Order: sequence, then C-alpha cells, then structure tokens
Amino acid sequence: MCGIIGYIGSKNSVPFLIEGLKKLEYRGYDSAGIAVAEDGHIHRVRSVGKVAELEKAALLEAPRGNCGLGHTRWATHGKPSQENSHPHTDCSGDIVVVHNGIIENYLPLKDKLQALGHKFQSETDTEVIAHLIEENLQHISAASDEERFFLAVMKTSDELQGAFAYGAMWAKTPGQIIGVKNQSPLVVGLGEGENFLASDVPAFLKYTSKVLFLEDGQTVVLTPQGAKVYGMDGQEVKVKPVKISWDQKTAEKGGYDHFMLKEIYDQPQALEDTLRTAEADFIRILNLKTEDLRRIKNVYLVACGTAYHAALIGKYYLENFAGVTASVDLASEFKYRTIPPAKDTLCIAVSQSGETADTLGAVKKAKELGFKRLAICNVLGSGLTRACGSVFYTHCGPEISVASTKAFTSQIISLYALAIFLGQASGNLSRGQFNTLYKELMALPKAVADTLKIEYDVRHLTKKVYKANRFIFLGRNVDYPVALEGALKLKEISYSSAEGFAAGEIKHGPISVIDKGTPVIVLMPKNHLFDKMLSACQECRARGAFVIAVTTPQGQEEAASVSDKQIIVPQASEYLQPVLDVISLQFFAYWVAKRLGRDIDQPRNLAKSVTVE
Ligand code: G6P
Repeated sequence: MCGIIGYIGSKNSVPFLIEGLKKLEYRGYDSAGIAVAEDGHIHRVRSVGKVAELEKAALLEAPRGNCGLGHTRWATHGKPSQENSHPHTDCSGDIVVVHNGIIENYLPLKDKLQALGHKFQSETDTEVIAHLIEENLQHISAASDEERFFLAVMKTSDELQGAFAYGAMWAKTPGQIIGVKNQSPLVVGLGEGENFLASDVPAFLKYTSKVLFLEDGQTVVLTPQGAKVYGMDGQEVKVKPVKISWDQKTAEKGGYDHFMLKEIYDQPQALEDTLRTAEADFIRILNLKTEDLRRIKNVYLVACGTAYHAALIGKYYLENFAGVTASVDLASEFKYRTIPPAKDTLCIAVSQSGETADTLGAVKKAKELGFKRLAICNVLGSGLTRACGSVFYTHCGPEISVASTKAFTSQIISLYALAIFLGQASGNLSRGQFNTLYKELMALPKAVADTLKIEYDVRHLTKKVYKANRFIFLGRNVDYPVALEGALKLKEISYSSAEGFAAGEIKHGPISVIDKGTPVIVLMPKNHLFDKMLSACQECRARGAFVIAVTTPQGQEEAASVSDKQIIVPQASEYLQPVLDVISLQFFAYWVAKRLGRDIDQPRNLAKSVTVE
C-alpha cells in the first residue's frame, strides 16, 4: 500500500529510485513519481500507471541529482492522476514529501494551512505534510539549514495523526534526506558512501543487506556518510544494524515469466527453511518464562485474505493436536465484535507482511483484552512482530507477487508445528503420536517438490475452462479452507467470479448457481471423507457441471468415474494434504489468468500490503 524509496550518495539517484520502485511496485501501482535535488532546485517527474511509465518519462526528462525520493501509489485520497501522484511539494516547490499511510487529521490541517495562504495542488492527505513543514520552517531558527529542516520535520510529525511513514527532502539541503516512521513500515539500508530509505528491504537489497529497522515515533536523518536516528524527544538513539539473510536472487524472477510462478516453485525451499528453525523456535516460544503458552486453553486466530485461510486450517490443527478451543476471525471483524475477556487466552496473528492494518488493529484489541499474542509472520522487524509478545517467522524470503502462494503454505506448516509442539508440551499428544506427526511434517518439502510436477497437466486442462465466468471450489474438513483459497486465488488474478464452499453445504443453496458447463473443482484426496466427495461430484454433474477432481493416486480410479478431468497430487497424511492440494489450485489460477492475458503479479485494484483500514 504505497512504496517509498530514498537514495543519497555520490551517484545519480534516479536509477536507484526507479529500480527500488520496481521492487516496491507490489505495494501499489496506480501512479508513481520521483523527485531529485538538482542544482539548488527540485526536479520532479510523475506519471499515472506503472513504474514503467515513470521510467519512460524520466528517460525523456533526465533528472539528475545525488539525493532523491520516489513513490509508487495505491490511491486512498484522490483518484490516480498526475496531480495526486507523489512526491508532493509545498508552495515553493522546494520541499518534497513521499508518504505511505493515512494522515487522519489532514482536513483540519489543510483548512488551517489554506487560511495561512498555502495553495494546494492535489486532493491527497500527503500534501499537508509538505505545506506544514514549509509553515514550521518559517518559525524555526537554527545554526544551519540542515538543523532547521530537521526541527521543522520533527514539529510537523508532532502535529500529524494516523499511521504513516514519510520521506522529506529540501532543495536547500541536498546533503540529507529525512524519514519518519509511525505505524507504517520504513527501513534504512546502509551502504558504502550511500544510504537508502524504503518501505521494504528488497528495494535496496541489491546494494546492501545492512538494515536499520526503525521503531514507531523515530526519525532518521540520512546523509551519504550514515544515518542518525532520533526519538520523539529529539534525542539521538542508537539502533543496531541487522544483517538480512535474504538472497537478492529471491527477490528476482529468476527466468520465470511471473513472480507468482517462481514463488509457487519456491515452496519446497520455503517450507524447508521454515521448518529448519521450527523446533528450536517453538521450544523457545513455549518456554518463555513470562508467557507460558503451555497453559493456553483458548486461541483466537486473526488474519486477512490468504493468511485468514491458513488460520482456518490452523484451527483444525490446534483443536486436534493441541486440544485447545480455537476460533478464527477476519482481523477486520475481530476489532469490532464483543470478545469476552478470558484467562489463558492466546491470540495468534497470521500475516505475511506483518503490516496489514486490520491485523495490527486486531492485535491491539487482543492486547487490551489481556490476551497473550503470537505472530506468525514473514517479515523481520515488521509492525506485527513488535506488537506481539512472541514471533514465529516463516522463512519464505520476499514474496513479491500480490497473490500469496509460498507464504500460505509456510503459514500452514507453522501452525501445524505450533499445534503439535503445544500438544506435546501440554500432554495432549503422546510422545509416539508427536514423533509420527513430526516425521510426516519433516517429509513434506519433498512431497511438495513432487507435487510441482503437476503443472503441465493443470496447464493443459485450463484450456478447456479458462473462459468460464463462474468457478466453484469444493472441499471438506481441512480442505474446506483450501477451496476458499483456490477461489480467492482465481478471483484475485483472473477477475473471474469464483466461490469456495464446504462440499456438504452446496445442497443448502450454492448448487442453484451450477449450470451446464460450470467448472466445479472438487478437492477429494483419498481419506475418510472421500465417499462424501464422490456424492458431491455426482450432485454437481447431475446439474451439468464440468467436474475437475483434485485427488490422490489411491482415489484416482473412483474419482475418474464421477468427474470430467482429474488432477493427481501425491498422498500425504490427512492434515498435511491441504499443502499439496492447494498447489494444484495455485497453478490452476495462474494458468487461467495467463490464458486470459491478465496482469498476474499486479492484478487490478489490489495491493500486497494493505496498510489502511
Ligand atoms: C492483501 C493481499 C492478500 C493478502 C492479505 C493479507 O489483501 O492482497 O494477498 O493475503 O493482504 O496480507 P498479510 O501480509 O497480512 O498476510
């Protein structure tokens, strides 16, 4: 949800800004812009559409300067247009600002500034920041322009309300960039004689893996020589740089047409990396002195989108293996419903980015209710990891495609691992039961690698159905959330209408939408519910559906007798089967969207991290 990049060093900042914006494009892609300090003034280039459009415009205009800011936008205040694109400026055009988040009090601030004579060019909330800095500058005196600008930014941040991160620059002080973080992500990359400011690490990972994670309320002053961080009181604070282990290659397409396809193929590695630390991490988490998770009796899982579907699967795991009562809430609903306070309650927040505003809001509520909090998250130092008492990291590396794939399967296995470790710690699982479940879990990355071989078959069968305008996905038990996820994946990237249902539920209504040729994708691995799924296939077929069965070798023959096409995935244990089944649906969504010529990695209207409510 909007991406910010800043560069300061000895080279021309423009290529760094454009390259960084391309890496941040997953955060928003309706317009983009850059501004550089060039010979005592600001040179700004902005364009509607993707960063590629901005790149063309920048090539023509050729701005040049060693200090610059860039932005890729996902519109909140004001439609995508040149005027509303960032960077925004003050009246003089010398102060520029790029911003991610929402300034909640921008209207009263705008009124006040307009009354003081400030002229606004856009409908955005961001523009108030530039004018407010300009206003504050007039009333501040200091030994140098650099210090004056810093003090004006500090005063401005004090007056802003909401969740935001912004970068600011002044033509008069081209030797510094200032960044401010308050509940929206902002990280600093420390290079050699050059430094970066960005919403996310991949934006500068090619140049440095030395990162400063800022805390909320902190302001950073970047110069070519280094970065100084200040607290809200204006006092300098020492922040230790963290070395990021992400490989630059994981943030690149590596020969695949799309990040989504590459990330589907990343899954065996992502799962293996996540499991590598699982035992040590969960033993640490479960033994925390102050937060003895072994006593937990109730669990609330909160999440959004794909992570919500992982949480739904996690509920089965927690109830079955850990013997605790678990409920799952969409984070945006959890915030506003009445939750009775309860002892020994744990809230598990599942999020790839760790910056989804709804999930952060749900965790805040869980804290107010006195619940313990555990994050399952993929991004080091993200807001969620700070808001929760404990964190278990999925180690997927950066996930760039808006449609989540490898984060989903990593979240599922994290919840599985949590549930079995919890079950063992609480005595709900015997040593023998635990060992079997653990062994099955550890064998999963290999089974995932085998499952990837189905791509060709899935690709082939999408030829028959990709033009359908309605798709139905059916599953039962742990495969019910997989059906929901299959439908979401397809909707997100193909824009076709798709719905997922619990197979037993179709007769209570949804079956009415099935018509001649409607593709119905039925998740039916061979297990104790297989016969029920055979009946579901028959019910759909009787209404003219084109039934695609996702089954395992053991169920192939019977499935073939009730379906039009079959996708055969390897057989896993019942509770791990969703991880293999969902891969078929990831490929399915990918190939339908590809045949329809959709923008797979950056589907319309969506953003990967939704940092607004
Ligand atoms: C957005 C994305 C989804 C994602 C959801 C939750 O809506 O488009 O793909 O599943 O946010 O994101 P999170 O980072 O919290 O997992």
